[in-house]
Amino acid sequence: MGTYNFEQIIDRTNTNSLKYDFTVERGKDNDVMPLWVADMDFATLPEITAAIEKRAQHGIFGYTYPKEEYQKTVINWMQKRHNYDIRPEWLVYTPGVVFAISMAVRAVTEEGEAVLIQTPVYYPFSNIVQENGRKLINNSLHYEVKDNKGVYSIDFARFEDLIIKNSVKVFLLCSPHNPVGRVWTKEELTRIGEICLKHNVIIIADEIHQDFVYGEKKHIPIASINKDIENITITCTSPSKTFNLAGLQLSNIIIANHKIRKLFKKEMGKTGFDEPNIFGIEACQAAYTYGECWLEELKVYLLENIAYVRNFVDTKMPKVIVTIPEGTYLVWLDFNKYGLELRELEDRIQNKAKLWLDEGIIFAK
Ligand SMILES: Cc1ncc(COP(=O)(O)O)c(C=O)c1O
Repeated sequence: MGTYNFEQIIDRTNTNSLKYDFTVERGKDNDVMPLWVADMDFATLPEITAAIEKRAQHGIFGYTYPKEEYQKTVINWMQKRHNYDIRPEWLVYTPGVVFAISMAVRAVTEEGEAVLIQTPVYYPFSNIVQENGRKLINNSLHYEVKDNKGVYSIDFARFEDLIIKNSVKVFLLCSPHNPVGRVWTKEELTRIGEICLKHNVIIIADEIHQDFVYGEKKHIPIASINKDIENITITCTSPSKTFNLAGLQLSNIIIANHKIRKLFKKEMGKTGFDEPNIFGIEACQAAYTYGECWLEELKVYLLENIAYVRNFVDTKMPKVIVTIPEGTYLVWLDFNKYGLELRELEDRIQNKAKLWLDEGIIFAK
């Protein structure tokens, strides 16, 4: 037994939970088990709850902004956990990573310019590009099945070719990669960085899953590879996935390049967003100050969950190919061998198995 209890089942209904309280509104049966959203059901670190309670007791909730103490905790976390040295002035605060990616795309590209993604990937990537009138270019990941397990990799020749042919201005990197769980290696990240440098492509790195890597794998912030790559990179981080704080709406965006940071802030200014959430500040600071032990125990528990899914699928649904995540707490399942039409597959998952999962197709658009 560890220090923390990840076994406790906490009723989340009637808390305005997007995961539990909007089933019918989102067109699902009331009794489906919602497993579609990256939102864990564990109580967060007790020190986070205590910090929020303390602030709430104060009774005044005026405009709030992070001070040096906050910045220090973020800097320490990045240094200690990810071996990346950042400076306080590089930090920009946004209410979320998806918001930050949108700001970044708008800040460094014009309408009609090309943005590269690699599907299957977290679906807001393509939405952001298209909704902002940018041209979506896709270097889909290479997929193969080895020993009945899915394996994803990057086709670098195609990556560079697409950049050249479409005059790509921005690459949206997902690292670790949602949904296929790849933790990109130093070699892969260096190649990405070098190609982007060669063709003046800015990298927007969504590293929200940075803290979930397993075994020998190591998350390497792409901006930490070298100063040249750092200079073209906008790194999006947040304690929100790691400590389950999405409802508190605070992300830390790291932009070393002064010019890019200025453009990013200008774009944010246009939205009218300014100060972050008072409780988000408390929560992030507490998380990054006290959260390491909790996170290590959580990862052990998550690995057991991943092994459980793997074992269940291997024994009960042997035609499903699992891609074993090297990082993230998501599992990507390939149902193709069943040969079912999309609608039929969805019907079985939702109406017979009573599971609310994200359909694979939305990650490939
Ligand atoms: C890769 C990735 N980026 C961003 C997000 C959402 O970030 P936010 O809630 O800060 O917008 C998620 C949530 O699942 C995610 O998986």
